[in-house]
Amino acid sequence: MPATIPKAPASLEADAERLYEELKAKLHDVVPDVELWYKARLAAKIMALKEARNAIILGHNYMEPALYHSIPDFTGDSLELSRKAAQTDREIIVFCGVKFMAETAKILNPDKVVLLPSERAGCSLAASITAEDVRQLRARFPGVPVVTYINTYADVKAESDICCTSSNAVAVVESLKSETVIFIPDEYLARNVARETGKHIIVPARLPTGHVHVDDTAVDYQIIGWHGRCEVHEKFTVEDIEAVRAQFPDVVILAHPECSPEVVEAADFSGSTSAMIRFVERTEAPRYLVLTECAMGDNIAAANPEKEMLRLCSVRCPHMNQITLEETLASLQHTQHVIDVPEDVRVRALRAVERMLEVG
Ligand code: 13P
Ligand code: SF4
Repeated sequence: MPATIPKAPASLEADAERLYEELKAKLHDVVPDVELWYKARLAAKIMALKEARNAIILGHNYMEPALYHSIPDFTGDSLELSRKAAQTDREIIVFCGVKFMAETAKILNPDKVVLLPSERAGCSLAASITAEDVRQLRARFPGVPVVTYINTYADVKAESDICCTSSNAVAVVESLKSETVIFIPDEYLARNVARETGKHIIVPARLPTGHVHVDDTAVDYQIIGWHGRCEVHEKFTVEDIEAVRAQFPDVVILAHPECSPEVVEAADFSGSTSAMIRFVERTEAPRYLVLTECAMGDNIAAANPEKEMLRLCSVRCPHMNQITLEETLASLQHTQHVIDVPEDVRVRALRAVERMLEVG
């Protein structure tokens, strides 16, 4: 055992030993033993501090396996964690996810302290659009409702009519009963929603001048999208799927709706991170390929040891990857990094988030 970790009090040591045994039972095929031993000690310290500080820990499905299987009170997709954030009576919410998720928790809980363990946990989708872009889209398409993916920052949500996540995007669009909607900022999610709802889509561009440009020759469209992409899911291709099917004809392929429509069409199932987890749990096939962030493949493999999870390569989200047990411990020890949303922005963003939660 490593000698570098200072000796913990007896009860903490007993908790660490118990956590180590639990992690070893689930993750012995996925994480080296010495790493599990070290991480169990960190997790035990976090659990003790979490109780002492009356905190709740929410963990997104993309968290690395040892963190995912040890410290969160709840794990889930963006929608499930938003609901948990709305329900908690704890004083502190530690969000093991990325900044837009922690901001959503703060929007729903203005009087609580919301902590994000790393300041570097962003998102390429959230970075792709500004509040000014939304104002320009509204000016160009007056009266058209704005549906905003939850993977955006609070000021963009504040300009929107309603939010959605990957698990309710179609239901949210249909709930508006509007012939045309603005759906931002994920181009691929918008194209997948267009495919499912039978709508046509156009995607305006932002010019170097900062102006939003719309193709005026386009006439037949009911979804106005945006050019945001997830830097993880845009990497998957139809050729990847064909190559895996050629080698393993019985493989069941799942794709997150942030993948391109061609990839989603070539897959057997598409859904949110939690929908994909449930699909593997409830399906009897022996072999799966999950086209999403790779840590989630490890988490599914640990929960379903009798099923084989194929890997294309290690596609990790560089933002989710910033959230470690070390950073989470420091977050609770030093109350960092505190998420703040200006009150005027929060109140307007809350309307869009609450309207989504009402849709279900
Ligand atoms: P889910 O809402 O499906 O968990 O997706 C969040 C995300 O960021 C996927 O890349
Ligand atoms: Fe954002 Fe993509 Fe990372 Fe999800 S996987 S947090 S969409 S960059």
